[in-house]
Amino acid sequence: STPAAWSQADSYLADTLVGPDAELESALVAQREAGLPEIEVAPVAGKLLNLLVRISGARRVLEIGTLGGYSTIWLARAVGSEGRVVTIEAEAENAAVARASIDAAGVGDRVDIRIGRGAEVLPTLVGGFDLVFIDADKESNTVYLDWAARLGHSGTVVVLDNIGREGEIVRDDSTDSKVIGTRDGLRMLGEDPRFDATALQTVGAKGWDGFAIAVVV
Ligand code: DHB
Ligand code: MG
Repeated sequence: STPAAWSQADSYLADTLVGPDAELESALVAQREAGLPEIEVAPVAGKLLNLLVRISGARRVLEIGTLGGYSTIWLARAVGSEGRVVTIEAEAENAAVARASIDAAGVGDRVDIRIGRGAEVLPTLVGGFDLVFIDADKESNTVYLDWAARLGHSGTVVVLDNIGREGEIVRDDSTDSKVIGTRDGLRMLGEDPRFDATALQTVGAKGWDGFAIAVVV
């Protein structure tokens, strides 16, 4: 199999199981028009986040790394009308794109966008989050995981994006800061007694990548 086949299969799965979605497609158009990088989660992965929120019954969700709000909309839909999503975005321009798309998707009243670096915003948050999605600068993964445990509780679900990095994660001599940050995050999930974790590789529209999924013990 080839990357083209993985991408075709991902499109087939998204067509079959996710379906057309005007609000999410508008969010992607807005994000592209604003020149944001095309690094949002794939549709099947956005749906996975949505299902994880619903399966776990999470009502208070924290996202680190809003980008254009695509994954935020998936999360916000899942928390229900009484739920809340706090999402942290370092770039004010990205946050403005996200704000408009989230509002247009009809879930704006559930979403609180905090503009700033994660390391600055996280200490200002009140805890009690039931699910944390970490999808920001990979170099800070261990900082974000520490805050996920501190702002969560026993049973909090933690999802860490981009753990595959095209297979580069096996390179213990890598000088790529994103690979080093990814390896550091995975090591922490394995060693830190606050977490019980696994990881799944994915191939698809996003290439060869994956998620780690953990529970706060
Ligand atoms: C990168 C970041 C992401 O969150 C992602 O999903 C893909 C790539 C990156 O910074 O390279
Ligand atoms: Mg990502």
